Amino acid sequence: DTELLFALALGYLLGSIPFGLILTRLAGKGDVRDIGSGNIGATNVLRTGSKPLAAGTLILDCLKATAAIVIARHFWPGTENFAAAGALVGHLYPVWLKFKGGKGVATLLGILIPLMWQAAVVYAVIWLGLLLVARISSVAGMTAAASAPVSAAVLGEQELLPMFLGFALLVIWKHKENILRLWAGTEPKVGRRPSA
Ligand code: G3P
Repeated sequence: DTELLFALALGYLLGSIPFGLILTRLAGKGDVRDIGSGNIGATNVLRTGSKPLAAGTLILDCLKATAAIVIARHFWPGTENFAAAGALVGHLYPVWLKFKGGKGVATLLGILIPLMWQAAVVYAVIWLGLLLVARISSVAGMTAAASAPVSAAVLGEQELLPMFLGFALLVIWKHKENILRLWAGTEPKVGRRPSA
């Protein structure tokens, strides 16, 4: 069906906009991929020393997915899941950056907001809570991502469960270097540089 393809393409196009890279370039901070973890996400943008740029990256990486889903819902009702999948894959694997994209924590939140707001609330609470308590962004992000399929199962949105499970596994897979650093005890707390 062409509508499904439109939604998928729209999701990918919006999702693949690397806001962390764009904002830091515009602000004259150079290439965010040359510092810290090399990631283009808000956590690594924070390592440039700019909280406003990090907040902007977080919000825009989140809202690009929300926008894709809301637009798809408006023009092609029933294609929201394709817009969602396109947005996450676009963010994680943008063709413009030789498929080296972000890790999907902000973008997955932007997907949950229009698809299942209760899961988005749980996700945000877990993410912020763990960030405040543990101060390790990857741990907070991966745990929040894992909460999405759990929310779908527990709060009775069974039809979203397989997709959310797939999304969570993708986000965790993109954190494989973080997992190795956590294992080695070298994963930095928020605001500091990784030592490996
Ligand atoms: O959202 C990305 C975060 O979970 C980890 O970022 O730069 O520490 O690898 P980073």
